[in-house]
Amino acid sequence: MVSGQAGVGKTALAVHAARTLTPYYPDGQFFVDLGGFSAVSQPRDPVNVIGDLIATLGVHRNDVPEGLDARSMLFRGLIADKKMIIVLDNVQTLEQVRPFMPGEETCLAIITSRNRLTGLITTYQALPLPLSTFTNGEAQDYLSKRLVERAVHRQDIPLLAEIASLCDKLPLALSTVVAKAVYRSELSLSAVAEELRESEDPFSFLNDPDPSVDLKTVLSCSYRSLGSLPAGLLSRLSWSDKSSTDVIEAGGLMNVASSVARSALLSLVEASLIEEIQPGHYTVGRLIRASARLLLESGPARSLHTSGTPSGASEGETSSHSRGSHNTRD
Ligand SMILES: Nc1ncnc2c1ncn2[C@@H]1O[C@H](COP(=O)(O)OP(=O)(O)O)[C@@H](O)[C@H]1O
Ligand SMILES: [Mg+2]
Repeated sequence: MVSGQAGVGKTALAVHAARTLTPYYPDGQFFVDLGGFSAVSQPRDPVNVIGDLIATLGVHRNDVPEGLDARSMLFRGLIADKKMIIVLDNVQTLEQVRPFMPGEETCLAIITSRNRLTGLITTYQALPLPLSTFTNGEAQDYLSKRLVERAVHRQDIPLLAEIASLCDKLPLALSTVVAKAVYRSELSLSAVAEELRESEDPFSFLNDPDPSVDLKTVLSCSYRSLGSLPAGLLSRLSWSDKSSTDVIEAGGLMNVASSVARSALLSLVEASLIEEIQPGHYTVGRLIRASARLLLESGPARSLHTSGTPSGASEGETSSHSRGSHNTRD
């Protein structure tokens, strides 16, 4: 169960693992993108996806039963005596993956999600693999290897370190820098660093015309799927000067009791939007803050920032400060 923020390398890892483990699973592999956090499409309906898999396993389309339960049972039966890998990529909920879970241990399911999906651990004894961004060294190595035609020299290392840091050491952000540099030979490393450092909107540089890899679009998909309280807290954190917070401070930002703030923080951790660096202490990446800020500027959630109270906080959940009642999220 590979979890982590958008662009951290979950799909890349799942594909690499499936490829590496091929000798142990000689009967084949399925790769299914369930589209849980897609900028361009809705999450895929498991009933259709499993129908396709059954057909791929040799069952005539006319013989594929209707209904998810019947399809799931047939699918499990078909793979029961096989050694296969099933990659379920971009999953949003436990319910989305349940029908595909093999009944036998001869098959391996590799699941990726921005959500931690702890239910998978409880129900299927899944092995959790939360992915972090690159370390400083990995990010710099990545840049210098991919920018090989720039002939990166020793004296460039501080610039690489700065670019890595301004990109939150996020693989997708670093790949975007590389893609820009490839086509703009006049763009020096110092110009890249300057663009990223000086611009209020890092996505004016870190962008791509393809929404499936455009960083702001990709990040904002996680933001949009949040409930009202965590979304309200993320809004406030994104406008705050600080990149870290704790329960007390978060409660103050939201005008809610600490227990409510804690639950909102946990939801943000669950969605891989913030990280708990020490018990009770959380940090928010620069790019996530920037994307949340931009979304607020253009979206209905702006009222979350300007009002006294996040939408969705019930009477009992709020403190005694003055409150608004914007219902901008579901
Ligand atoms: N370990 C890695 N080494 C090099 N590049 C990586 C690594 N992990 C991810 N990438 C690159 O980062 C980008 C985002 O990775 P991806 O797997 O699509 O992220 P996610 O699935 O978490 O959104 C891709 O361009 C991918 O090739
Ligand atoms: Mg992915």
